[in-house]
Amino acid sequence: MTTLTVLPKAELHCHIEGAAAPDLVRRIAERNGVALPDSLFTADGRYVWNDFQSFLAAYDLASSVLRRPEDYRDIMYRYLADCAAEGAIYVEVFSSPDHAAAVGMSYADHLAGLIAAIDAAKAEFGITGRIIVTCVRHLGPDRALEVARTMVSEPHPYVVGFGMGGDERQYDVADFLPAFRMAADAGYGCTVHAGEVAGPDSVREAITRLPVTRIGHGVRAAENPRLLDDLAKRGIVLEVCPGSNLALGLYPNAEAHPLRRLVEAGCRVTLNSDDPPFFGTSIGKEYADAASVFGLEAETLRRITETALDAAFVDDETRQELRQRAAQFAYQPTS
Ligand code: ADE
Ligand code: ZN
Repeated sequence: MTTLTVLPKAELHCHIEGAAAPDLVRRIAERNGVALPDSLFTADGRYVWNDFQSFLAAYDLASSVLRRPEDYRDIMYRYLADCAAEGAIYVEVFSSPDHAAAVGMSYADHLAGLIAAIDAAKAEFGITGRIIVTCVRHLGPDRALEVARTMVSEPHPYVVGFGMGGDERQYDVADFLPAFRMAADAGYGCTVHAGEVAGPDSVREAITRLPVTRIGHGVRAAENPRLLDDLAKRGIVLEVCPGSNLALGLYPNAEAHPLRRLVEAGCRVTLNSDDPPFFGTSIGKEYADAASVFGLEAETLRRITETALDAAFVDDETRQELRQRAAQFAYQPTS
C-alpha cells in the first residue's frame, strides 16, 4: 500500500454534483430549507438508486439542493481536500450549469463557489483544480448550445474544457456539433461521454463527429478490436471509471471489465471516480483497485498519471508545473 499512497494521482472525470456526499447534501438542504424525500437515502445514509436511469434521477435530486455559491464551494472544497489527502495533485471536475439553472442559479453564481474552493484548496493542500463545463445530452442540442454560448461569453481561467454527460442513447451525437464547435473554436478542450451505456458505435460516432481529444468512459470500445486500434493510433484519451462501471452493472465483475485490455491494446488510459459517493469510490480507491483487483503494476499507474497530465486541458505552464510536482511527489498526509 505504501507504494500506492506515494503515487501522485490525477483525475480528469468527476461530476461535481455527483461528488457531494449524502451528509453534506442533507446539511445543505437543511440550511436552504429544501425538503428531500427520505427515499433518496438508505437507513445508513447512502444514496438510493438501482440502475442508470434511477442513478440519474437521484443525482438530479441531490443536485437540486445546491442553491447558492457557498453550496458549490463547500462541495468542491470537501472533494478537493479528500483528493489531496489521497495523493491527487490535479483534478478536473465537470460542472453542469443546467443543474444550477434548474433551481434558478446563474452560471456566474455557481461558478463563483467552485472558483473560491479551487483557490482555497490550492492554498491549503497544493492541489490544482480546473472546471469542465458540461451539457446534458438528454436535455437536447439547443440547451447544449446555450451552455456552450454562456461558457464562451463569460470566460474564467479555471474553466478549461467543454463536455457532455447524460444519457448517450438520446439524440445523434452529431446534433451536438454546433455546441462542441463553438467551444473548440474558442480554445476549450473537448470530451464527451460515450461507450458507457451504449456500445462501441457510440464511441466511433463521437470521435468521428465531434472535435474531442478525450472520451468519458469509452470502455465499450473494447468490444471492437478495430476501434481499439484506431483509438490507440489517434491517441484518444479514455477517462476510464472502473468503480462506476461496476456499480452501474455494466460488467458483472472486475474480471469482465476491460481496463487491462484497454491498457494492453495501447490505448491512453486514465483512472477516474465519476460520482464518488454514488459508486462507493474515490480517486485513491480507483488507483488502489487498479493495482490490487486489476493487477496493474506501479509503473503502469505512474504512466496513467502522466497520461492524465498530458491530456489535461491546462495551459503549457501549468502542465509543466504539474509534471514537475508529479516527478518530485512526496506524499504529505493532509489530515
Ligand atoms: N452524469 C453523471 N454521471 C454520469 C455518468 N456516469 N454517465 C452519464 N452522465 C453522467
Ligand atoms: Zn461521467
